[in-house]
Amino acid sequence: MTILLLGSGGREHALAWKMLQSKHCTKLFVAPGNAGTEAIATNVAINPNDFQAVKQLVLAENIQMVVVGPEDPLVNGIYDFFKNDSQLATIPVIGPSKLGAQLEGSKEFAKEFLVKHNIPTAAYDSFTKDTVEAGCAFLETLKAPYVLKADGLAAGKGVLILQDLEEAKTELRNMLVDAKFGDASSKVVIEEFLDGIELSCFVLTDGKNYKILPTAKDYKRIGEGDTGLNTGGMGAVSPVPFADAILLEKIETRIVKPTIEGLQKDNIEYKGFVFIGLINVKGEPIVIEYNVRMGDPETEVVMPRLKSDLVAIFDAMAKQELDKIELEIDERSATTIMVVSGGYPEDYEKGKEISGLDTVEDSLVFHAGTKLENGKVLSNGGRVLAITSYGNSFEEAIKKSYQNINKLHFDKMNYRKDIGFDL
Ligand code: AMP
Ligand code: GLY
Repeated sequence: MTILLLGSGGREHALAWKMLQSKHCTKLFVAPGNAGTEAIATNVAINPNDFQAVKQLVLAENIQMVVVGPEDPLVNGIYDFFKNDSQLATIPVIGPSKLGAQLEGSKEFAKEFLVKHNIPTAAYDSFTKDTVEAGCAFLETLKAPYVLKADGLAAGKGVLILQDLEEAKTELRNMLVDAKFGDASSKVVIEEFLDGIELSCFVLTDGKNYKILPTAKDYKRIGEGDTGLNTGGMGAVSPVPFADAILLEKIETRIVKPTIEGLQKDNIEYKGFVFIGLINVKGEPIVIEYNVRMGDPETEVVMPRLKSDLVAIFDAMAKQELDKIELEIDERSATTIMVVSGGYPEDYEKGKEISGLDTVEDSLVFHAGTKLENGKVLSNGGRVLAITSYGNSFEEAIKKSYQNINKLHFDKMNYRKDIGFDL
């Protein structure tokens, strides 16, 4: 089968790497891809949000399945675009419908879904420009820290956690009245702060059946000891050592099952990944967010631990036969360390030549922000490479990744030296 994968990050390189191991994948296109995907598949320079361009490519290359990496084409409705186009309607899109993608596209939609289906989540209320004063009054009823979330997609920057009540009120006004995050903050969810350790649960669903992928934990802050600015993720570990059988059982019965049943009850078409962000509050898992895609860099540890054929899984999802699939998981730990451009997540330079890639031994190198130019691999984004290793323990895996990172070089290269420090 000829497959098209949309996206260009480390997540997409890992998905491409995994799909190419399947005998069902005879040709893989990645749009737009990076230097890593270019080495194993065919990159096509189109924007995943330009659905007409995607359509032309699908028809021209006889593509038989489309796998969507990032959230924005999903939130923009690529699933429905295919379904409603007579030339594309038979081609499965792996990802939720536009309505299902609202679980990530609107924090308010997600909170309403959680409450409606009795899934544990933080208490909340939502506000607009017209109710900003009511929002300030609601903040006064809460204890610090205050959690403010822009309703819409804000490239991972839309959540503010503030210690001071007056500052929280000011930021609420900035978001609602001064459009701090543009349209994304025309509505704001104010939420009770949950104190605990975060972990992520990844689920595959066909809208009726589900399979749970290995757990993973990412490290979001730029600085060692989880300090400094938020990033897309600086490293990840799978499995999560503290996610024991008791916690996993609670996650499945209280969160995963009611989520999939909720999709069915609400007639939401969903053949894709559900990424559930959780906080473990004294042994009780509570949902903080849904994403409608895989995590990045979590994919770079979850896919290496999946032994089953990913394309066969996607095909079963498209046919709503996921119940016929058994997932086989590698028992080993997998860890990944993100190598980033100096300055990231603030301003950074691109176009730096990366050396040492061919000296890496016993680790997988997933490219994120890279491009190939005149035979050279150049940095092309904030997060540049994800170095994934296996180990009998996460410590062993992390050690291998660091040994290999020592062989890599580009100008102003940076990475966190303490991934796994808290486990
Ligand atoms: P989100 O985009 O909803 O995942 O939020 C981004 C980050 O903010 C999360 O990864 C958490 O670290 C933090 N966060 C979100 N909601 C809460 C909450 N209710 N309590 C504590 N921390 C939160
Ligand atoms: N690593 C977090 C995310 O992909 O949203």
